[in-house]
Amino acid sequence: MEVQGRDLLSILDVAEELPALLRRASELRALRAQGKLPRPLEGRALAMIFEKPSTRTRSSFELAMVELGGHAVYLSPKEMQLGRGETIADTARVLSRYYHGICYRAFRWQDEEELARWASVPVINALDDREHPCQIVADLQTLWDRWGGKFEGRRLAYIGDGNNVLRSLLLGSAVVGLDVVAAIPEGYRPDPLVVEQAREWAERKGSTVEIVDSPKAAAKDADAVYTDVWVSMGDEAQAAARKEAFRGYQINSILMGHAKEGAFAMHDLPAHRGEEITDEVMDGPDQAIWDQAENRLHAQKAILELLMGRTRPGTRRPR
Ligand code: CP
Ligand code: NVA
Repeated sequence: MEVQGRDLLSILDVAEELPALLRRASELRALRAQGKLPRPLEGRALAMIFEKPSTRTRSSFELAMVELGGHAVYLSPKEMQLGRGETIADTARVLSRYYHGICYRAFRWQDEEELARWASVPVINALDDREHPCQIVADLQTLWDRWGGKFEGRRLAYIGDGNNVLRSLLLGSAVVGLDVVAAIPEGYRPDPLVVEQAREWAERKGSTVEIVDSPKAAAKDADAVYTDVWVSMGDEAQAAARKEAFRGYQINSILMGHAKEGAFAMHDLPAHRGEEITDEVMDGPDQAIWDQAENRLHAQKAILELLMGRTRPGTRRPR
């Protein structure tokens, strides 16, 4: 049976399969190391539309497609008719006739939803201003590997901006039953609806979701401490105010000292060294940052296999 146009816009879109995705991503990493990767995407093609820069997401999507037997085409809106006023809807309809899936890095989540609404093949969110779901699949895979596949009783602290990464992290952690506590200054907290959604999942899983003021309180007894940039792509006009608001929301060795013995730092990258994280932590042994970056490749494969393994272009789905 053909699966037509199942999207991944929010991490909640793969909530049910999330544990299986983490297991599969880990397995695909091992298979790659053994030179035994399967080719479930043979003859499949992915369009990659990026409105903003990317190092990890772009490379991992493209390489994941190629290594699983498929093909990827990078499309910059500046060089597409999209940049000259062709609508997102028309673009989606046309690309759906060529490709088996579209990944989209957008400034506005409304545009992400518009593309998904009109595409008849899966649309995968490669980051927008609301979420960064593929990043969090890789991050949870990193934790899954380090903690032997068990999240129960673990505590993840997040320090900094209540941004796209934090939203997906709150939701994803809650879905797998990982206790999550985020220290975010007033005025930069995520919308209450996301916190509510995360809490509903956590309740079902017997875990907790907390938002606090103090980085120290969040880091206390944490098994891992995560941060992201203070100024996300698109927020540059507020850079000065943000740097002021987030002063003190930094992962450094003093903050890590409040975490549990054996705890490690996490960052989705790119980092602004000296702002949200110090060189000492990034370049030290107590971090999982480079594993997170590598796992983007393996997690992307698990995602692509799930969503695109059985789709074909030109199909319509009921709206
Ligand atoms: N973490 C992440 O998404 O990095 P890029 O912006 O380089 O893709
Ligand atoms: N929050 C960051 C993540 C970059 C991968 C941004 O949106 O710029």
